[in-house]
Amino acid sequence: MSKSGIGQVICRLKDRLFFVAHFVRTFIRKIVRDRAIEGLPSRTYLQTVLLPDIAAAGCQRMLFVGVRSYNLAFYRHCEALKIAVWSIDSDPTAAEYGAPNGHFIGDVRQICALTAGLTFDVIIFNGILGFGINTAQDAIAAFDAMAKVAEPNSLILIGWNPGLTDGREIAALRPRLKPALLGSVSADIEFPAHGRAQRYPHRYEIFTFGEEKL
Ligand SMILES: C[S@@+](CC[C@H](N)C(=O)[O-])C[C@H]1O[C@@H](n2cnc3c(N)ncnc32)[C@H](O)[C@@H]1O
Repeated sequence: MSKSGIGQVICRLKDRLFFVAHFVRTFIRKIVRDRAIEGLPSRTYLQTVLLPDIAAAGCQRMLFVGVRSYNLAFYRHCEALKIAVWSIDSDPTAAEYGAPNGHFIGDVRQICALTAGLTFDVIIFNGILGFGINTAQDAIAAFDAMAKVAEPNSLILIGWNPGLTDGREIAALRPRLKPALLGSVSADIEFPAHGRAQRYPHRYEIFTFGEEKL
């Protein structure tokens, strides 16, 4: 092989090595980030305290709004508690992290057009205010759509970040819902910010939809 030929092979090898190193670095960063998020006190509380209470309240069909790779462990906890989970996310690339019973690609504000009559007895609406549903008007539209697929007296858990949003979204929803008593836990609880994995406080508020189906 000529000198220039060897030079070209070395250049191609360098390019490939650079590509592989970049891929491995991105993959490792994602795993580290996911583990950090999964281990947050607010997430641990959701999985080990709220979820068993949701199961004890008799909930068996959950709609999980918004999916990311760090939610996969959450589905396993639900499965262990015999809660069937469906999910929705407007981002098509998030579909690979969809829930085991079914995933809808679309905006939660159009959920009733996607579920073909399926209804839910609990909705987890965590990390959506300020991450796509960003105004009081958006929040009311999301509530109206979710209420159509929520069974009478079903639960909705809203997790949101004071400081990330100005609180107007949740304020628009509170008058439309009733605070729920879930086992021994309070209807709302707040966790402080926790390093890079959670830059703002995280607050959970638990409500019931009304008795009447909308
Ligand atoms: C911060 S992540 C929260 C993920 C998950 N709910 C959790 O608790 O970890 C926000 C997710 O919600 C999705 N999302 C934002 N607005 C949405 C909307 N209007 N309808 C459906 N999904 C939405 C985003 O694409 C993103 O995957």
